[in-house]
Amino acid sequence: MNIIESIQHVVFGVWAVVLLGLVGYVTTGTVRFAVAPVAAKRHYPLMLWTRLRWHWLARNLNLCQVDKHGPSKSRAAFGPTIGKNVRIEKSKAKIRFPRVRWRADQYGIIARVRLIPGVGRKEFEAATAYLADYWKCSRVQVSSPRPGILVVRGLRRDPLADGLTLADIRRHDVALALFLGRDEWATDRWLPLSGIAGITVGGLPGYGKTSLILSWLMELFPLAFVQIVVIDGKGGGDYIGLKSRLMRLVDDDLFAALVVFRELRQELRHRQATVVSRLGVTNGWKAGPREDFSLLVVIVDECHTFFDLDGVKGDKTKYDLDGLPTKDGITKTEAVLEIRSIAADLVKKGRSVMMLSLWLTQKQTSDAIPTAIRDNCTVGLSFAVKTVDAAVAALGDAIRQYGAYCPTTLREQPTYIGVCTASISGDGDPFVRVRVPRVDESAADDLAEQTAHYRRDFAQAA
Ligand SMILES: Nc1ncnc2c1ncn2[C@@H]1O[C@H](COP(=O)(O)OP(=O)(O)OP(=O)(O)O)[C@@H](O)[C@H]1O
Ligand SMILES: [Mg+2]
Repeated sequence: MNIIESIQHVVFGVWAVVLLGLVGYVTTGTVRFAVAPVAAKRHYPLMLWTRLRWHWLARNLNLCQVDKHGPSKSRAAFGPTIGKNVRIEKSKAKIRFPRVRWRADQYGIIARVRLIPGVGRKEFEAATAYLADYWKCSRVQVSSPRPGILVVRGLRRDPLADGLTLADIRRHDVALALFLGRDEWATDRWLPLSGIAGITVGGLPGYGKTSLILSWLMELFPLAFVQIVVIDGKGGGDYIGLKSRLMRLVDDDLFAALVVFRELRQELRHRQATVVSRLGVTNGWKAGPREDFSLLVVIVDECHTFFDLDGVKGDKTKYDLDGLPTKDGITKTEAVLEIRSIAADLVKKGRSVMMLSLWLTQKQTSDAIPTAIRDNCTVGLSFAVKTVDAAVAALGDAIRQYGAYCPTTLREQPTYIGVCTASISGDGDPFVRVRVPRVDESAADDLAEQTAHYRRDFAQAA
């Protein structure tokens, strides 16, 4: 075999490998397409088109990197043909594009992006609105499952826009956890209760705070080892039908609320003093709640009603606990201060004795809910809010870096009524957005009646 023949063999071999690779690539793509659900197939043309246009789009949105030290191999290196935003010197530089793997699912397209120096999450977050326009998607969502990798998702049909009902509530298989809802990947999400000191729920009026609580109560009512106290600062009768299953229910009466808060403080102290002798552990969650040492859930709806010092500061009258003026009673300011102090104690000390408090308010800024309470709550949930400051108050400072999760983008009505951002980690991010189930009040009232026999009073509950 002469040298020409060996070269021919090598060339033939190379061609065979290339062809095989191509056939494999096309076959995999075809099989993937064939087995994809019908709803996902609809998004394949869009996926192919975005794939074809990716380099052009990346150049125009500055989602690529000009490597000035690289060799001049890129076709795009010849100035005039490249996108308007990336201009490089002739014959000096090379453009590096983030490598992308594309997929389509029933909600739209998914790009798994391998990041490159100079192009990170920040750049993609900043470009989401443009990507959404160009991809003709209603929203583009960015998440980072692991360092160096981004998942950029173009949603033509938003999973968050699909409503959930009572029938969608799923009990967690293993842990004592509340069903939160379905996230933007259409995955069910839960909130494990062990180790949670408190939960804040914020958001503009009418976006689903009370409805979320009702869905949680639907899960808690049938559990004999759960007792529930509701303090309803709105006083609109949202919980009145549930009374038979609730250990205590009070409305927006400041002194009636104070009486219940005092009972809660008693209960907290009693549990702290007896947890070791009764459960054999200092952290009650290690033994878990049981009927004679229940999980006590305290729900304070529109809690700002009881924390508002400005609203009561002019009133110097002293009242008894029935709210009637009396000489040796307490002023409203004193009552608010006492409630604030008990509330802070509940959040700080309640976890290990299985007292979980939930604080609902339309506005989570420090004038509405004291920071000693808000900042010690382990989990924050926020439905739509108007300003980034309100989002920061509800979810912490980190939300500034995760613009795609910011609840300011959830104001579209009615699409995002019942959708909230939760400060629990998901897919490597510290936040998830979930659609919570909508629960009919009458269904909750019925279940409360059916499970009323589980209701205990303070002395029996602990
Ligand atoms: N998960 C949901 N899905 C669809 N619609 C919902 C959902 N949750 C609530 N809604 C709708 O929004 C309305 C208001 O809900 P809800 O009373 O829970 O709001 P809220 O945030 O508690 O308001 P407020 O601050 O005034 O108490 C409900 O009557 C219902 O029509
Ligand atoms: Mg409400």
